[in-house]
Amino acid sequence: MTTQIYFYTGTGNSLWSAKKLSENLGNVELLPLPVVAGKPANPQADTVGLVFPVHIWGLPRLVVNFVNCLKSDSSKYYFALAVNAGQVAATLIQLKKLLLSRSLNLDAGFSIDMPSNYIPWGGAISEKKQQTKFKTAAEKISRIAEDIKKQKKVAPEKGPLWQNILFSFLYRKSFPHIHKMDKSFWTDEKCNTCRICEKICPTHNIVITDGKPAWQHRCDQCFACLQWCPEEAIQYGKSTKNKKRYRHPDISLRDMMAGMADA
Ligand SMILES: Cc1cc2nc3c(=O)[nH]c(=O)nc-3n(C[C@H](O)[C@H](O)[C@H](O)COP(=O)(O)O)c2cc1C
Repeated sequence: MTTQIYFYTGTGNSLWSAKKLSENLGNVELLPLPVVAGKPANPQADTVGLVFPVHIWGLPRLVVNFVNCLKSDSSKYYFALAVNAGQVAATLIQLKKLLLSRSLNLDAGFSIDMPSNYIPWGGAISEKKQQTKFKTAAEKISRIAEDIKKQKKVAPEKGPLWQNILFSFLYRKSFPHIHKMDKSFWTDEKCNTCRICEKICPTHNIVITDGKPAWQHRCDQCFACLQWCPEEAIQYGKSTKNKKRYRHPDISLRDMMAGMADA
């Protein structure tokens, strides 16, 4: 079995999950999900995984773009880990349908519950609560690895019906506007133009203009810029000024930079 795992991450949860899964599986090629839309993707391995965060109860645009570039090949075993903060909703069903539109099958789809990085709704949870989530996730990932080794068919995990209906509706409504929701980002007086936000952004959405970051409206709302800013100088609207930032404690800035490079 040859395995390639494509990952996308804003604050390291998905990268950590992909790394844990790779350790359990062994002999995995871990690749950053290509960020350039329209770039044909032709995974070489016979087992292909996608590991990504859930955004607004669905697939982030980068994942949609990537799947839309996949070559049809029914001989491959596809699996996915939708990394979320407790509400996977119908994300994996959406992925299954999208893969089907490319004549590909989602053979197994798993939800991984991790700490939330959606800071407008709340800062980082306590370290104790984070560790509890990491432990549970690590145990689940080792079970998932056994399923993948056996190439088991596992129906996509999903939330309760009401969530899937309501939240999928909200996802469809918000999806066309996400790229320009970066209008709410701004920098306060602590910004020292270190350019980390510019380098870490997976959509290359930030340029430094007059010594300050300027967002270019091709945002994917991963919050990497805000969460990784060492000065905590990046804010979103009025609600983030005194909120605790979140980054996975085992993922370094260096790991992130490697992960943000175009594959
Ligand atoms: C814009 C945005 C939307 C989010 N929407 C959801 C959601 O619908 N359901 C959920 O459980 N978590 C949601 N989250 C939380 C992330 O999915 C979760 O924290 C994930 O583990 C982050 O992974 P990452 O560190 O790899 O980016 C959202 C986060 C962001 C930034």
